[in-house]
Parts: sequence; C-alpha cells; structure tokens
Amino acid sequence: MCGIVGYIGHREAFPIIIEGLKRLEYRGYDSAGIALYDGKDLKVCKAKGKVADLEARVDSEITKNGTIGIGHTRWATHGVPNDVNAHPHSSNSGDLVIIHNGIIENYVSLKKELSKRGYIFKSDTDTEVLINLIEDIKLKENLKLGKAVQVALNQVVGAYAIAVFDKKKPDEIVIAKLGSPLAVGVGDNEFFIASDASPFIEYTKNAIYLEDEEMAIVRINKPIKIRKIKDDSLVDPYIQELQMNLEQIEKGGYDHFMLKEIYEQPDAIRDTYRGRLLVKEGIIRMAGIDDNIEKFINADRIIIVACGTSWHAGLVAEYIFEDIARIPVEVEYASEFRYRNPVITKKDVVIAISQSGETADTLAAIKLAKANGAFVFGVCNVVGSTIARETHAGAYTHAGPEIGVASTKAFTTQITLLTLIALKLAKVKGEISNSDYRYHLQELELIPEKVAKALKSEDHIKMIAEKYKNAKNFLYLGRGYNFPVALEGALKLKEISYIHAEGYPAAEMKHGPIALIDENMPVVVIATKKGHYEKVVSNIEEIKARQGKIIGIVTEGDENVKSLADYVIEVPESLESLSPLLTTIPLQLLSYHIAVMLNRNVDQPRNLAKSVTVE
Ligand code: M6R
Repeated sequence: MCGIVGYIGHREAFPIIIEGLKRLEYRGYDSAGIALYDGKDLKVCKAKGKVADLEARVDSEITKNGTIGIGHTRWATHGVPNDVNAHPHSSNSGDLVIIHNGIIENYVSLKKELSKRGYIFKSDTDTEVLINLIEDIKLKENLKLGKAVQVALNQVVGAYAIAVFDKKKPDEIVIAKLGSPLAVGVGDNEFFIASDASPFIEYTKNAIYLEDEEMAIVRINKPIKIRKIKDDSLVDPYIQELQMNLEQIEKGGYDHFMLKEIYEQPDAIRDTYRGRLLVKEGIIRMAGIDDNIEKFINADRIIIVACGTSWHAGLVAEYIFEDIARIPVEVEYASEFRYRNPVITKKDVVIAISQSGETADTLAAIKLAKANGAFVFGVCNVVGSTIARETHAGAYTHAGPEIGVASTKAFTTQITLLTLIALKLAKVKGEISNSDYRYHLQELELIPEKVAKALKSEDHIKMIAEKYKNAKNFLYLGRGYNFPVALEGALKLKEISYIHAEGYPAAEMKHGPIALIDENMPVVVIATKKGHYEKVVSNIEEIKARQGKIIGIVTEGDENVKSLADYVIEVPESLESLSPLLTTIPLQLLSYHIAVMLNRNVDQPRNLAKSVTVE
C-alpha cells in the first residue's frame, strides 16, 4: 500500500513527481524516494518520513535536473520504515531502478536463488528481490528491459503496480499491474504514471487504467504499447476522459482534508442521488439495479461484505433492507468471510462496499462469492477501481476524492446509495405503500440541507471537545438504525485521536459496559425522537445514576434529554431510517476537534493508510 509516480517527456520531472507524491501520501507516508535521470546519470535519493523530508534531502544531496523520473511514498509491509527500505530500489549493477506498490509473496524463495547466484541485498524488502530478478533474467537471457520484466513477473506470486527504468535505455519506462492500481496520463509526447490520476490532473485529462496482468512501455514521442503479461498479446489502449479537477483534490481553505470532506457532505449526498432520485416522478433510476432487478428480487438473501467504516454502512443497510424491503441480510467483515468457508449459493446477492475499491479483503470476498456463483454488486467511490471492475454490476457513490484517512463523506454517501437501492427494491416487491415510498423519497431529497444545518453546530461541538479531550476512554451508545452510527463514532475517535472508544447497542450496556461508567467516562448517546426513544432515555438515566458524563445526540427541540444530559447536540428531525445521515455529522466533528486539540495528524493518523491493499 504505497503511492507511485513517474514521468517521461519534455518537462522537468522533479516538481511533477514531488507534487504527485504529496497528493498520494494518503496511500502511505512512512518514507519516500525519487530517481531522476538527468540525461547522463541516474540519481536516487530516499528518506525516512514524509515527502517533505525527501524534498529537503534532495535539495542537499542530488541535482533536480532531468525529464525522466520515478518516485514512491511508502507504507511499510516488508522491512521497517527507513532510508534503505524506501523505494526506488536499484539492481546490483545500479543500472535498473524500480518503484513498487504491492507484495511479492514468493520473495523468500526468489531471494534464496538470487543469493546463490551472487546477488547481494541491502534492504529487507520484497521489491529489491524483484528488481534483481529482472536484472538477472535480462543479463542471463540477453533480453530487452520490457521482455525481462515480463519473464520476471511470470515467476512472481503476489500483487504489484511497478515502474522500472534502465539507465542504459533511458528513453522508456516499463510499467505493469496486478492487484494494485496503475493509471497512465497521456499528454502531448509525454506520459505520467501514478497510483491514481491526482498527480497528473493539471497536465492531462486523458488517462488509461491498466488492467490486472497488463504491462506497458511508455516512450518519449511514441504511442503506448500495452500487452498481456501472460501471453504477450497486444491490448488496444482505452483512453478515458477524467472528470475530476485539481480543486477537488486540494484542501480548499480548510485546515485538513477531513474537515473539508465533512463539509462536502451536503453536496456529496446530492451527487449520490443526482439523476437517480426522481421525486416528482416517484422513480428511483439506477442502471446497475434496473438491469439486474430479477437477481435482487429473487435472491434468498443479501450478503454485505466490507471493512471498517464501509462495514458500518453495511450495518445501516441491513436495517433498511430488512425493515423496508423485507429482504434478509447478513453483514460480514470481508476479512472473516473470505476465510470461514461460508455457505454461498447462486441465489445469494453479495453487495461489496468499498470507498477505495481496492481493499484486499473485500476483493478476496468478492472473488470467493463469484466462484460460488453468487451475483456480486459493488458500491464504490473510486471510479475504475479494482472492485468496481471485479463485480458483476455496481453503482458509484460519486462522493469525489476522499483524501483524509478517516472516512466521512464515503460513509454518508454509501448509506445514501444503499437507501436508494432498498427503497427501489421495496417498491418493486410491493413491500412499501405508495404514499410511504413517496414520503421516503421526499425526505431523502431534503437530507443535504439538513446535513448543512447539522454542520452549524460545529462551535458548540468544539466547546464539548475542549471539555472531554483529555478523557482516556469514551463509550458510544445507539439503538436500531443508530447502533452502527455508535460504532462509527467510536471508530472515528479511535483512529484520529488515539483515545480508546467503544460503540455498543444501548440496551447491551447493562450486560457489561455499565461496569466502566464512573464520573470520568464520557458517554455519547444517540437518542433521536423516533428510534426506541423512551428506552434510550432509560439508558441515559442509568448512566446518570452512575455519574457518567452524558453527551446526547438528539432531535431538535428535545428538552427531555437536555434536562438529563451534560450536553446535547441537536440534529434536524427526519425519518428514523434516514437519521444515521444526520447523527453521524456531530460524531465526525467531535472526533475531529478532539484530535486537533490533541495535536494529532488528523489526515494521516499513525499506523493507518487510506486503502488497505494488503491482508
Ligand atoms: O476503501 P474501503 O471503504 O474499502 O476501506 C475500508 C476501511 O479500510 C476504511 O473504512 C477504514 O476503516 C477507514 N480508515 C475508516 O475511517
């Protein structure tokens, strides 16, 4: 799980690569490196830490000239983060350099063989093994670089997006992909290579996304040639026009991407239902569902697979699918599902949810479901991502790029999309009355402005954050549709503030967690008016009786909980099934402000990466 960038053309490569790596830091940020070819020589510079640390080191160590180069920002898998393990890795002769995102699973046996043949390894990485394997094959069989890469990759087990450069053939870069993303920006006699399109968006809108098991050679002033790694057959390049712009991927005046993305939610939700939710006509139009409606209607059950925040969105979906569409649903952690020999039949529909579309466990769960004959539907945000391509059909959330490691707008847009699907199926199955259906559509259309209203509580939430920022533990409670929101609130706090937090169904408190409650325990309780309100109020009384500190997330105007709680945060009234879209907002802001007050790295919390493309 790393970010890779490359450039070959007529511009200075250094600024393109450094800026590109900064945009890809969400993929990993424990070390970074760059290799530049200045027309005569190949210069490599690497540094532990962020891309900014690399930039500072380049200034003092190498010249920045050259119109060809490759760069890498790392999230360690093999070998600790340090200068030596950082990419690019060079071959023993020093002629070849490589950047790699992925894992070479059989690197130990390959390394043994290469060591026997006299190869020496400086780093602990699997990548250094790969570049020496390429060199060995190239020299042994007297092959051109492209061919040597191809032969080597046919010996490799694992996942990769790679770019390889040979200083003895300095007019080309060889790239290849299996299991990790790789985009090629096609400019005017120039090529950009990157893990996603953000590093080259201001230079070209024309992009090619390599498919798995494809490789290509990009050359100055020549068209790209793409081949299948296995059988060497040529593939016609499919150039697509990108819709994103630079402004979308920059902070836009906010201190952090996370805050920007929290505030983007009204628009993001609107973008999710745009063209799909036709309130006047009383229609939900979604090609991926319309084209496969029989599969959904005749399904014995829906199995939802996902990880992290996407799994929480799946839990919310379970409530709405069962409640409104009366379809049995199971929600599974993809990482458990893939290994527990689950019973899957041809009559199951599997919905895979993933913001990045690259999560390894979710991808493996999809492959398992497909192998067992299930119909697999993807809910992804990143267009053209692996999961989007691996599923039989799907729908994009259209939330726009999410850069902050902590998912925010991905969650609310996933819920929006899954709600559209549930309502559509409920209607087709005749499980919902016409008036109820129409009412749901109207209420869903109003959600963006209600989210905007919920965001207005930010100052009040900041004051609450100040009060509890030093707590060692937090408890989050919710019931029904808002139980998954409690889980999500706790996850948000954990991942960006490093404060321990637990989410629980409110009624489960008395079966254990109540023992934790004393005057030092802040308890965030979601107590909206429609969902088991009285019962949750009883839980609040129980917490109060044990001196717990209560932060209530309540429906506007609720005086009852106000009189019991230490603080309340109001959200606009809505249908219970839509309330997670509103109750989530204050929880995102609370964790954000606590993390900022504790001086945490909000957008890139320690030990995490945006997309988890390894097990
Ligand atoms: O890209 P995905 O939605 O598949 O990612 C799943 C999780 O890794 C992700 O939601 C993670 O839990 C986030 N850091 C949560 O904020």
